[in-house]
Amino acid sequence: MSGMGQDTLISAAENRAMFDRIAKKYDAANRAISMGLDRGWRKTAVEILKPVRGGRYLDIGTGTGDLVFEMMQQSGGSVLVDGIDPSEQMLEIARAKAVKKKLGDAVHFIEADALDLPMERETYDGIVSGFCFRNIVQRQKALGEMMRVLKPGGSLVILEATCPESALIRLGYKMYIPLVPVIGRIFGGGSAYKYLVDSIEDFPKPDTVTDMFSAAGFSTVQCRSLTFGSVSVFSGKK
Ligand SMILES: C[S@@+](CC[C@H](N)C(=O)[O-])C[C@H]1O[C@@H](n2cnc3c(N)ncnc32)[C@H](O)[C@@H]1O
Repeated sequence: MSGMGQDTLISAAENRAMFDRIAKKYDAANRAISMGLDRGWRKTAVEILKPVRGGRYLDIGTGTGDLVFEMMQQSGGSVLVDGIDPSEQMLEIARAKAVKKKLGDAVHFIEADALDLPMERETYDGIVSGFCFRNIVQRQKALGEMMRVLKPGGSLVILEATCPESALIRLGYKMYIPLVPVIGRIFGGGSAYKYLVDSIEDFPKPDTVTDMFSAAGFSTVQCRSLTFGSVSVFSGKK
């Protein structure tokens, strides 16, 4: 049921079950579906966030933790980062990767929901979230939570899969997109990747997302499109 507004939104519990199921093969499936471009998209999102030495950062919907690790890498390990996610299986993989990278107490992975963050107000210098916002049922409420836990002057950067605007690019995109559930099936997550395609088609247009940022009180709101608009990076300041 794609292309009909909010049809594809599923509850946090359903999200958790879906990501628990695909966790072990999530990274490999991501690389294959994005043809390796996902690493560059996360790198750009963190470049826009610009983590500063000694700062404290949050990754919402951290999954297997790649945005947390990108923040550690770009800051030369000079920041503290929390990653939250409702999927314990995704978090287990993130924690194992952090141990392998010897990140110690600089990173923490916490089971939590974007709609009810277990953090004090004005805790973070910046928040990043990658490919998660699309999955959240009450997006405006989630933006309110992000605003609450950000320090004044802090930045929010949301990376999300979007539909390209150009008719020509859209044509190529429409030809590629049916392959996504096929690739997903190879990695044992067919229905999850069918959901991925439907939820991208149902995600609001970039202008609507920037309006939501403004409605939540964010200023200097911007949207930068990557890879012909198939991915967008939304940003704003508290
Ligand atoms: C497509 S994965 C993205 C993971 C990671 N950010 C990345 O860049 O690969 C989406 C993640 O969002 C999480 N998620 C879904 N609903 C959420 C919610 N309400 N609050 C926080 N995270 C949520 C899922 O459990 C999943 O791990």
